[in-house]
Amino acid sequence: MAVAEAPISEPHTSALGSINPRSISVFGSTGSIGCNTVELLSQNPKSFSVDALTAGSNWQLLAKQAIELGASVAVINDESHYNDLKNALSGTNVEAQAGNVALVEAAKIPSDMVVAAIVGAAGLKPTLEAAKRGALVALANKECLVSAGDILLKEVKKSGATIIPVDSEHSAIFQVFDFDNPDSVAGITLTASGGPFRDLSLAEMQSVTREDALNHPNWDMGAKISIDSATMMNKGLEIIEAFHLFPVALDEIDVLVHPQSVVHSLVSYVDGSVLAQMGTPDMKTPISYALAWPGRMTTSAQKLSLADVGRLDFRAPDNERFPALGLARRALQTGGSAPTILNAANEVAVLAFLQGKIGFVQISAVVQRVLESVNSVAMGSIDDVLAADDEARDTANNVINTIKL
Ligand SMILES: NC(=O)c1ccc[n+]([C@@H]2O[C@H](COP(=O)([O-])OP(=O)(O)OC[C@H]3O[C@@H](n4cnc5c(N)ncnc54)[C@H](OP(=O)(O)O)[C@@H]3O)[C@@H](O)[C@H]2O)c1
Repeated sequence: MAVAEAPISEPHTSALGSINPRSISVFGSTGSIGCNTVELLSQNPKSFSVDALTAGSNWQLLAKQAIELGASVAVINDESHYNDLKNALSGTNVEAQAGNVALVEAAKIPSDMVVAAIVGAAGLKPTLEAAKRGALVALANKECLVSAGDILLKEVKKSGATIIPVDSEHSAIFQVFDFDNPDSVAGITLTASGGPFRDLSLAEMQSVTREDALNHPNWDMGAKISIDSATMMNKGLEIIEAFHLFPVALDEIDVLVHPQSVVHSLVSYVDGSVLAQMGTPDMKTPISYALAWPGRMTTSAQKLSLADVGRLDFRAPDNERFPALGLARRALQTGGSAPTILNAANEVAVLAFLQGKIGFVQISAVVQRVLESVNSVAMGSIDDVLAADDEARDTANNVINTIKL
C-alpha cells in the first residue's frame, strides 16, 4: 500500500549537522529489516537520499534496490558476485563494489545515518566504522552490541555518535525512558512473544523441525532471528543489548512473555508508574522511528485497535524450557569475552540447526558447552573480540561434530 510522503516533523539536524534530506546508508539492505527500510526510503524520496546499500550475496535484489533508490554505491560482500553486480548496474550512476574491505570502506562514506541491518557478527566492523566517524547509527544488528558492546560504546562516546535502537523492544524503551532523570527509572521489562514453541514441553521440543522453528507466530523476520526467537536466545541477546543501551543494572532488566506482541516493552519508575510503548507487530514502526528521529513519519503499519485485540496476556518466562535466557544473563555477569563467546557459539549452533546437523534443543546445549569450555578473557580491542569470536566458533564446530542425531 502506498503511503503519503513522510511528514518528518521539523527539518531536523543530524549528529553531523546536516539538514533534510537526511542521507542514509543501509548495511544489509536485502534482508528483512533492510527491505522494510528500503520500502520506507522509497516512499519518502524528499526526506531521504541514499548513499550506500550493501548485501551478502543477493546481488540481484541489491542492484534493483540501488537503481530504485538512486544510491551512489552498492557493495556485495561475496566477491564472486562482483561481475554480476557490475553488469546489472551498467548504464546507471551506481558504482559496484565487492568484498569485506569495500563493506567497511562504505561505512566511511559521510552519510548522516547508517542503518546497521547485517545479521550476526559480520556487521561488527562496518557498524564500528560508522560509530567512529560520529554517525547516527540506526542499530538493528544486536549481535554487534552483544559481542563488542564496550568497544562499540567507547567509540560512540569518543566520536559523539548516536545509537538509535531498531529492535522493537529497545525502540520502545528508547521512546519512554526518561534519559534526563535516569535515577527515576526503577527498571525495564523486555516483552517476548515466546516464539512458536512457547507452549511446548521440553519433550515436545525434541522433535520440532526447522520449518516449525522458522514459523514465528507474530513477526516476519530473517531466519537467524526467527530461530533465536524460538529458543528465546533472542531475548537473551536483547538483555545484553539493553544493558549496553540503557543506564540500568542487570537485575533491573526483566523479561515478560506477552504472546500478542502489542506491548513492545515497558519502563518502571520509582513512583510506581509503568510506561509502555504499544503498536501492531510491524518492524516498519521502529525502523521509521529511527529513520525520522527525533521526528516521526507516516508508515503503512496497521494501526493498533485495542478493542480488536481484546485482551493482553503476560506471564513469566520458563527458564527451564528456555535455558538460553539464563545463559545470556550468566555471560553478561561473567563479563570479558563471555558475551562474545555466547554470540559466536549461538550463530554457529543456529546455522548447524538450519543445516540439519543438530536438533532444536541442542542449540542451547552447544552454547552452554562452549561457554563452559572457552575461558573468558578481558577485551580491549576489536582484535580481542575477533580472536574470542574465532575461538568460540572453532569450539562450537568441534562440539557439533561430536553430536549424533
Ligand atoms: N527481522 C526483524 O524483524 C528483526 C527485528 C529486530 C532485530 N533484528 C536484527 O536485525 C539484523 C538483521 O536481521 P534480518 O532479520 O533482517 O536478517 P536477514 O533477513 O537474514 O538479512 C540479513 C542481511 O545481512 C546480509 N548479510 C548476511 N551475511 C552477511 C555477510 N557475511 N556480510 C555482509 N552482509 C551479510 C544479508 O545479505 P543477503 O540477503 O545477500 O544474504 C541481508 O542483507 C539481525 O541482527 C537481527 O537480530 C531483526
